[in-house]
Amino acid sequence: MNFQLTEEHLMIQQAARDFAQNELLPGVIDRDTHEKFPAEQIKKMGELGFMGMMVDPKYGGAGLDTISYVLAMEEISKVDASASVCMSVNNSLVCWGLEKFGTEEQKQKYLVPLAKGEIIGAFCLSEPEAGSDATSQKTTAIDMGDYYLLNGTKNWITNGSSASVYLVMAQTHPEKGHRGINCLIVERGMEGFVIGKKEEKMGIRGSDTHSLMFTDVKVPKENRIGEDGFGFKFAMKTLSGGRIGIAAQALGIASGAYELALKYSKERKAFGKEIYKHQAIAFKLADMATEIEAARLMTLRAAWLKDQGLPFDKESAMAKLFASEVAMKTTIEAVQIHGGYGYVKEFHVERLMRDAKITQIYEGTSEIQRIVISRAILDQQ
Ligand code: CAA
Repeated sequence: MNFQLTEEHLMIQQAARDFAQNELLPGVIDRDTHEKFPAEQIKKMGELGFMGMMVDPKYGGAGLDTISYVLAMEEISKVDASASVCMSVNNSLVCWGLEKFGTEEQKQKYLVPLAKGEIIGAFCLSEPEAGSDATSQKTTAIDMGDYYLLNGTKNWITNGSSASVYLVMAQTHPEKGHRGINCLIVERGMEGFVIGKKEEKMGIRGSDTHSLMFTDVKVPKENRIGEDGFGFKFAMKTLSGGRIGIAAQALGIASGAYELALKYSKERKAFGKEIYKHQAIAFKLADMATEIEAARLMTLRAAWLKDQGLPFDKESAMAKLFASEVAMKTTIEAVQIHGGYGYVKEFHVERLMRDAKITQIYEGTSEIQRIVISRAILDQQ
């Protein structure tokens, strides 16, 4: 067992940290306040290789491992979780699935520009009446011979209006239940595809979340990923890896808040001394540091298992469950340590607290993670 990061890992971590501090931090409060998507910054992240980190260089990616991805996600998320969710969806829900299950033509046409960050992708599973209960897809993809006729509505889609490529889950054979679902690659601009309203959110307000409407959209047969009926399995397998990305995001939000609280506690004086010298604050910091370290180890272990080609579904669910709870708890304590300053935007921790909440909801709520984990441990009996 070796807990040491390699030279390459440390370089990637430093590059992500520098990017976050220099390029994301300056406008982050303004983007959050005015719900501005970080378009310019995402473009630069593409140029630096952060949008297709694990994709083989022959398809335009950076060819790195999942550990590198976790390290970069943590650094970006410390500063701007709106940018990091865009990065996470593009890397683990879109690029990974296309590389693993797409045809060579699909890879050349879609994966290459996605991995280079020239375009952005979206993953469209959730519907108005199918969030956690993802097998209940109401969107239909009727087989018309050489194309599918796509009809339905998707909800809460990250990168909703900024994406160019959408992976859309839809039901083709309702009588087969989840085994009748397909995943189709839908291009922005296809006739009948309308981008609906932008959601006004509590947190990750710079990210661009929309509902999407499909009315008689003709999607060519060659845009289906995998065999007929593979769509639900595709979504589940993809989400398993995606949850490592969200665990890393939660870890970053938590460690970003912790670092700010630590710094503030050394600067702020009360009752004649720096507040970290009061045990009430020192113990809070000790708990935050301990829990963050545990979340980091769990997330890196899930990433390592994935890199080794070993099963990681249970571990990615555990990492996401734990890291997202740590993110919520840590950010609340970071606001508390900052006192009145924590409640105002300028000090960043209130935003991190709002951003933390979504990590307990998307890519499977904490309750869904507990379903995945309990099934995995009970199956092992
Ligand atoms: N890998 C491969 N196959 C899997 C799998 C996995 N990890 N997990 C489940 N499956 C397969 C099962 O084997 C089963 O297939 P068979 O019947 O052919 O064997 C099929 O999927 C259905 O599984 P279940 O019987 O377990 O179905 P269920 O309804 O009881 O539970 C669930 C499934 C785990 C609860 C699933 O619905 C789920 O994960 N829900 C949450 C959905 C989710 O995470 N949504 C997030 C939206 S995306 C998002 O948030 C992105 C963003 O923008 C940030």
